[in-house]
Amino acid sequence: MSRPAPTLLVTLLTLAACGEDTGAPTVSRGGPDSWASALSLPRATDLNPDPRVVEVNLDARMGDWQLSPGRVVQAMTYNGGVPGPLIEAHVGDTLVVHFTNHLAEPTTIHWHGVRVPAEMDGAPHSQHPVAAGGSFEYRFTLPDAGTFWYHPHMNEARQMELGLYGAIVVRGPDEPTVDVEGALVLDDVLLGDDGQIAPAGDLLEIHSGRDAGLQVINGHAGATLAMRAGQRQRWHIVNAGSARFYRLALAGHRFTVIGTDGGRLATPRVVDELFLVPGDRLDVLVDASATPGTRAVLRNMPYDRGHGSGVFEAQDVLSVAYTAEAPLPTRAPPTLTRNLSPMDTQGITPREVRFSERIDEATQTVTFMINGASWPDVPMTRATVGQTQVWDLVNESEMDHPFHLHGFFFQIVSRNGVAEPSPSWEDTADLRGHERMRVVFRPDDRPGSWMYHCHILEHVDHGMMAELMVER
Ligand code: C2O
Ligand code: CU
Repeated sequence: MSRPAPTLLVTLLTLAACGEDTGAPTVSRGGPDSWASALSLPRATDLNPDPRVVEVNLDARMGDWQLSPGRVVQAMTYNGGVPGPLIEAHVGDTLVVHFTNHLAEPTTIHWHGVRVPAEMDGAPHSQHPVAAGGSFEYRFTLPDAGTFWYHPHMNEARQMELGLYGAIVVRGPDEPTVDVEGALVLDDVLLGDDGQIAPAGDLLEIHSGRDAGLQVINGHAGATLAMRAGQRQRWHIVNAGSARFYRLALAGHRFTVIGTDGGRLATPRVVDELFLVPGDRLDVLVDASATPGTRAVLRNMPYDRGHGSGVFEAQDVLSVAYTAEAPLPTRAPPTLTRNLSPMDTQGITPREVRFSERIDEATQTVTFMINGASWPDVPMTRATVGQTQVWDLVNESEMDHPFHLHGFFFQIVSRNGVAEPSPSWEDTADLRGHERMRVVFRPDDRPGSWMYHCHILEHVDHGMMAELMVER
């Protein structure tokens, strides 16, 4: 059986193949060495010779995280690095992860966006937390192509801020031909006066979520990505930040979005900006259209997420340096299609799910709620396998809350009654301040307990989470 070798994603770009998808890491049309050196993610080593099984060792342990030359902080790492190793596989592969917890506290791994069985989902009450010194074997098949990620689901605001996260790329049968390809994991960290990652903050930070920090991409602050004019690069972007919203723009360039959380779009969308809320992913083609020897900056543009802490200025996330090499011939626009039509919601009475917050000035506490209660006191939602679910997510607060559903992809039907222009599969989507967003999904045959929550980590830690029980 022949299929593209997993080397295509070549360590986050040691230069990927061009031309035919033979899988051989043959030639490079360009020489983006700095892209490989500054931004490359280590790949998880596959221990299993069976081409349909990806078997890796993963551990969580304390370690040094070098944010930039000379700036090292104490971190929580997967296999010693931040981000953890890139897991690459093909649709239908079985992923086996031998996980050991070398931290001094319990943790779990949640496979964000992967349609795993409920007992593999890493939610702390559908799986026993992996105790300090303990281990667990995760084993499941990968049913969908796309960009996913993994992270703990205990003490999220602390464990993820300290560095526990990694990317997963699952390839399908019809991947686009590109020159360079890799995962870009976005995050920001807040350093304290001692130069270390700051401990949890005050009421204001809990309320707004932590987004005041240093921008990092694949664990590096101030990184540079090399591009050769004419190249087509493919970026698998993951937002692993605690509360950071990204509105990314690259002056002089447009982006071709080919996929979202749940894989490919029906057809590519050409846009000027990429919007990612915490937990979001985008699969993007970037054509290097500038002149050799020039530079461009990937900037995060201001976005008002209604948290009352003001709108930050545009920030530099990554600098893009064009090599001096002569331009490669430009590529034709990609022709990628997927059969993706809107789900039928006729005749289904929507279920209302309300998101709210309460600040108690007297006790200096803030509570985040779903349907008027805080996790774990939110009444459980029930659904049956195969039964279409239409939910009206109602934001009763001023602030955006990025909604994440475990286990199933949904489509956004409408926002405030205005139909979404085209369908996509999502597991994370922004619920804007005072908005009513209608979503639809159908639980496939994976009964069990599934969480849904706001993906601002301080909010999930302070109660904005609930449980969907899917029964046969
Ligand atoms: Cu990425 Cu329940 O989370
Ligand atoms: Cu929130």
